[in-house]
Amino acid sequence: MENFKKAAAEEAVKYVKSGMVVGLGTGSTTYFAIKKIGELLQEGKLNNIVGIPSSIQSENLAKEFKIPLTTFDQHTEIDITIDGADEVDESLNLIKGGGGALLREKVLAQASKKEIIIVDESKLSKVLGLKWAVPIEVIRFAVNVEIQFLESIGGKPKLRMSDNNRPFITDEGNYILDTNFGEIEKPEILTQQLENRAGIVEHGLFINLASEVIVATTEGIKKIVKNSV
Ligand code: 5RP
Repeated sequence: MENFKKAAAEEAVKYVKSGMVVGLGTGSTTYFAIKKIGELLQEGKLNNIVGIPSSIQSENLAKEFKIPLTTFDQHTEIDITIDGADEVDESLNLIKGGGGALLREKVLAQASKKEIIIVDESKLSKVLGLKWAVPIEVIRFAVNVEIQFLESIGGKPKLRMSDNNRPFITDEGNYILDTNFGEIEKPEILTQQLENRAGIVEHGLFINLASEVIVATTEGIKKIVKNSV
């Protein structure tokens, strides 16, 4: 599995050119992309790259691999973001947030000219929700109200916990409700329902945000480009 992740990540890094502002996603697949960008910088094969990390985890990795960082104070547009996903459907809609970074990841995706998603083939699904619950980030104040709301629309929310048996806290200080909706036939409608709620800060449905998905398969790399599907 690690080889698949590495292969997809390194294929995505081929899109990164000198001078670009690069969005750095979060997760075990993106790890290989951050590492590769760092190596190319050290070898002088890439120059003048600045990264915007999507989490404290990816910020630490970027520092480890010596990628210069910037913020939205300096740049409000990203040339290319490379990120992972938990589930990808045939229209390139995604479920993200397995690593808890969905909020900043979506900010990056919306600020990016190109959003490249890197996955292995186990993440592909005909319909979203078959493989992964939707991570829903809620403010702590509202958690019980939003649990009740999510149940009322057919979801089965579960408060994400950390290893220390305390609720998982996102980089923005919120909770996550991993909510199983079963097969999500109409993700756009669910998106609207979630976005109408004051206590829900963000959710892991990424609709129409991926420009391209790079899939590492047993037969090699497969690229699915938006509008070609
Ligand atoms: C983090 C994410 C990750 O991109 C997603 O969970 C995939 O992670 P991995 O590459 O480790 O399977 O959305 O919030």
